[in-house]
Amino acid sequence: VLTKPNGTTVVRTFQFSVHTQGTPESEGLSQRFEKFLVGQNLICDELETIADGLPHSVDLQVCLRTAQRLLPVVKAAHDFEEQVIFPVLKRKGPQLTQLAETLDRLRFEHWGDEEYALDINYALREYARRGDKVNIESLSWMLRGFFEGMRRHLAFDREYLLPIASEVMSTRCMPRVAQP
Ligand SMILES: [Fe+2]
Repeated sequence: VLTKPNGTTVVRTFQFSVHTQGTPESEGLSQRFEKFLVGQNLICDELETIADGLPHSVDLQVCLRTAQRLLPVVKAAHDFEEQVIFPVLKRKGPQLTQLAETLDRLRFEHWGDEEYALDINYALREYARRGDKVNIESLSWMLRGFFEGMRRHLAFDREYLLPIASEVMSTRCMPRVAQP
């Protein structure tokens, strides 16, 4: 029921058409989400290889490349989740009120991981420049703290968020305003 400025009310009815088959667009979004998760897991593996190779068995070219790619890879994935996936999930409706809190928590974790990724970028470049003159134990602890936390986040994204996203995006709910 809509109330106009002059006080009169208008009743509008809404019809929802639900398609249970996935659309090319929705399948594309799920696949892109999956690719971003895979990409982040791969960069975690690269960081683990570096951590395992400290202090003297690290390929410095790989180290620098990973340092440069880290933040862009993480940021692109976070932007996709926050700007594409989260809004789609939020539109699902009131039955997902608890999900809204979860999405806020995930967004908060994204911010923390992006700051952490920037710190790792600096630390790896410093290591490439100064070798074992940097604090190796601290660098190792830093790298492991990052990729272990990131893998936990990614596992949650994959096990909890991706199935919901796939389900929501395979069921399109398009509101249509009926003529009064
Ligand atoms: Fe995420």
